[in-house]
Amino acid sequence: MHYCYPSNSRRGFIKKAVGLASWGIASTLLADALPVESVLPLPIPKQKLSLEINGVAHDLMVDMRSTLLDLLREQLNMTGTKKGCGMGDCGACMVHVNGNRTNACLSLAVYNEGNKVTTIEGLAKGEALHPMQEAFLKHDAFQCGYCTSGQIMSAVACLKEGTAKNRDQIKDYMKRNICRCGSYQNIVDAIVEVQKSGAKV
Ligand code: FES
Ligand code: FES
Repeated sequence: MHYCYPSNSRRGFIKKAVGLASWGIASTLLADALPVESVLPLPIPKQKLSLEINGVAHDLMVDMRSTLLDLLREQLNMTGTKKGCGMGDCGACMVHVNGNRTNACLSLAVYNEGNKVTTIEGLAKGEALHPMQEAFLKHDAFQCGYCTSGQIMSAVACLKEGTAKNRDQIKDYMKRNICRCGSYQNIVDAIVEVQKSGAKV
């Protein structure tokens, strides 16, 4: 009778398999030996946060790792503010914090203690749209609409700050907002119209 001995590579494979199997058994035994708390995930660190959003006071417990954007969208279900890049490049998450335009994806939620935040949901007065929202509609300043809330928040901040005096300066100010659909000309048309109208923003 002929016996077939394992080749070197086959032996190596069998050794590895036995080794892995024994590591599995050992790690199971180890986990069994450890106290339960040491193998459970750590509790999520939370902190109290009081802030005002669109004129409404909120007293919250928030995940210390949350951004202002995640707080708005995930915890408060205010999904008008959009998440694009999540790293400060696209402007989809633009809100106003104490009157200044701010990328909500770059702001840790807990750093907003006592702040006054305005989001796209806070622009209209009941049924009456904000003049910038009206102008965006009139000028077809969007296609898919994903960037639009961020564009409008920047556009309002642009006119509130008042530093952009003409079309080129408005274009320059709006550089922090990207539109994949390429509605840039219409967006600037809308802003110029509101600027010329002298409407209160
Ligand atoms: S999601 Fe904040 S800048 Fe893109
Ligand atoms: S309208 Fe589609 S990304 Fe701007």
